[in-house]
Amino acid sequence: MALYPKPAEGSWTSHYPDVGTGFVSYEDSISPEFHADEREAVFKRAWLNVGRVEELPRPGSYFTKELEVAGTSLIVVRDKQGEVRAFHNICRHRGNKLVWQDYPREEVSGTVRQFTCKYHGWRYGLDGACTFVQQESEFFDLDKNAYGLVPVHCDVWAGFVFVNLAKEPPQSLREFLGPMITPLEGYPFDRMTERYDFRADIDCNWKIFLDAFQEYYHVPFLHPQEATPAARDKMTGFEAPHYQLDGPHRMVTADGVPRRLWPDDFQYPIEIATRSGLFGPWDEPDLGADLPGTNPGKVKNWAIDNFQIFPNLEILVWASGWYLTYRFWPTSHNTHRFEGTLFFPKAETASQRAAQECAAVMFKEFALQDAGTLAGTQEGLESRAAGDEFPLSDQELLVRHFHHAVGTWVEDYRRSREARTTSTGV
Ligand code: FES
Ligand SMILES: [Fe+2]
Repeated sequence: MALYPKPAEGSWTSHYPDVGTGFVSYEDSISPEFHADEREAVFKRAWLNVGRVEELPRPGSYFTKELEVAGTSLIVVRDKQGEVRAFHNICRHRGNKLVWQDYPREEVSGTVRQFTCKYHGWRYGLDGACTFVQQESEFFDLDKNAYGLVPVHCDVWAGFVFVNLAKEPPQSLREFLGPMITPLEGYPFDRMTERYDFRADIDCNWKIFLDAFQEYYHVPFLHPQEATPAARDKMTGFEAPHYQLDGPHRMVTADGVPRRLWPDDFQYPIEIATRSGLFGPWDEPDLGADLPGTNPGKVKNWAIDNFQIFPNLEILVWASGWYLTYRFWPTSHNTHRFEGTLFFPKAETASQRAAQECAAVMFKEFALQDAGTLAGTQEGLESRAAGDEFPLSDQELLVRHFHHAVGTWVEDYRRSREARTTSTGV
């Protein structure tokens, strides 16, 4: 697919003939069979973002990540040399979950010198090596050097920690991210050390919620408070000025005027009091003039870049000096766990802190407006009463491309499974 298209005429969608303009099926969001294959084809083959390096500040810092979609739990840890590593969270003796606290299914984090199994006390170093076996001489032919934790491919890009569950990932992380995403590594992500985390269990397929964050067609109607007063009064639609696709990844840019320039229009008095709101603090931090990788379309009045990194990570960069991530983790074919995190530069004053907290609260308000629609959509789609041909507009190019990309990965997987079955005669 072409990079950096500029439609001089016609639609954005027509510049990407691979995705077509036909009606789109949502069977991929309601079929348990499709989901079973999607787990193998997508979540066990793609690079998945599981956290940020700020969560691993020193050697011995770790966190666990429950990946129901891949049927495993991971330990992500910074080793003595400072390298970030990932392992399956399983003791090699008899399979006990190695790292957990009160409840085995709850994610935990902390700092340790080594990991000790709660069952019979086997120990593992930060590099995964098995360092101690209780009553080792009573075992038969056990070479504990061969019984380290099972490693998972792990790499870091721009401070984002990714894992890949494939035996041999077909591409390195950088190759996978490609030329549209990697230039963002010059953005000062490392300065955004104030974070606010939200997490919710949602009654819909993960792709249904992800779709809500890759088009702005719904904004004037579902979130009228986000529109400028003039646009709202006229109830005009919103048009994003730039879309771009690269491999399985997508991005859209939105433009707009800084929120501080229309201070009289607000939803809640707290926005005026804190000079903040959904669009973030109105008094912007100085991040320098050059923010690499952002605004690839060179849009005037750039406001937001919304990078959708396949399969389930979104990085949303605000021109006003902060960023958001969304992650969508399937827990079944019609449920998922949503994680939304806001990242700001360090607050130096109480008012900066209040502004950041107000932005976090407003984010929740708007995310709930989106989330409120989802269980109904899932039920409606599952009823199949409206058929299976859904029309998507030009502004929904990224929705179209996303389902196309997931479908392509699943088809490839099915083809290679079929080829294996045929060649082995099983
Ligand atoms: S299962 Fe971990 S030490 Fe026995
Ligand atoms: Fe929305």
